[in-house]
Amino acid sequence: MISIITGATGDIGEEFVKRLLDETDQIWAVGRSDAKLSSLKERYGDKIIPVKVDLSDKDELFGFCRKIEEEKPLIRYLVNNAGVAKLGPVSEFTLEEISDLLDINDKAATLISRAALPFMGKGAYILNVASASAFQPNPYIALYSASKAYLLSFTRSLNVENKEINCTAVCPGWVDTKMLPKSNNGKEIKYPGMVPASKVVDCALKDTRKGKDVSVCSFYYSYLRFLSKITPHSLVMKMWVGMLKPYL
Ligand SMILES: NC(=O)c1ccc[n+]([C@@H]2O[C@H](COP(=O)([O-])OP(=O)(O)OC[C@H]3O[C@@H](n4cnc5c(N)ncnc54)[C@H](OP(=O)(O)O)[C@@H]3O)[C@@H](O)[C@H]2O)c1
Repeated sequence: MISIITGATGDIGEEFVKRLLDETDQIWAVGRSDAKLSSLKERYGDKIIPVKVDLSDKDELFGFCRKIEEEKPLIRYLVNNAGVAKLGPVSEFTLEEISDLLDINDKAATLISRAALPFMGKGAYILNVASASAFQPNPYIALYSASKAYLLSFTRSLNVENKEINCTAVCPGWVDTKMLPKSNNGKEIKYPGMVPASKVVDCALKDTRKGKDVSVCSFYYSYLRFLSKITPHSLVMKMWVGMLKPYL
């Protein structure tokens, strides 16, 4: 029985590696850097099977999906965790940056889920790492936020379609990882309610085992999720842009 973790070389990904090591015979650790994958194997041992895939490359992504279909592994956990983010107005993104972001954050998670489903038995888990930014539109991280809203919607539907598999969208707020820049335009960035990656992963695994289709991980962000349901989104966006203003 195996686990597949994309973005295994990142901070949240490595926490999933640590937690799932004792639960499966192998972890297919998906990443794009040979050096980081080798370091992961050195630190966690022979259960780590490094799989080098650049998820923004169509041929490499399809190649990985075909590997799953050909090898037919029994999959206990699929964690679609790889993701990229960039702050700024859509008008400042290049076409390549937009295409890569959508491919990594959405297309890869969708195709890998599809390829893995036939090999996931009763009681298996799919965890798609989305974000609390999926709960409302967020100007200046518009693409990231919209890509995570897709992932949230996709995962919840997948959970209904596949009764024997638990599918959970993991939606943390700010997490203390290298994805978050420490400063912008010379100003130190403050991240309200930031939590460590270990807490996100503990909470995600507890929630998916309870059968929850969304994992939020902190009271602060559960409360914001509730607020975003009952407040007009035009107002929520205004508050968000106000909060970002010092850094733009
Ligand atoms: N940090 C936060 O505040 C926060 C909040 C909510 C949700 N999230 C989500 O959590 C997930 C993990 O992020 P993190 O915070 O742990 O950041 P991270 O440490 O930067 O991890 C991102 C991972 O994605 C991988 N990746 C990026 N582009 C890739 C590509 N083209 N092909 C294959 N892998 C690629 C990275 O590989 P390399 O190691 O080679 O770069 C890395 O392993 C992401 O989906 C992110 O959106 C993060």
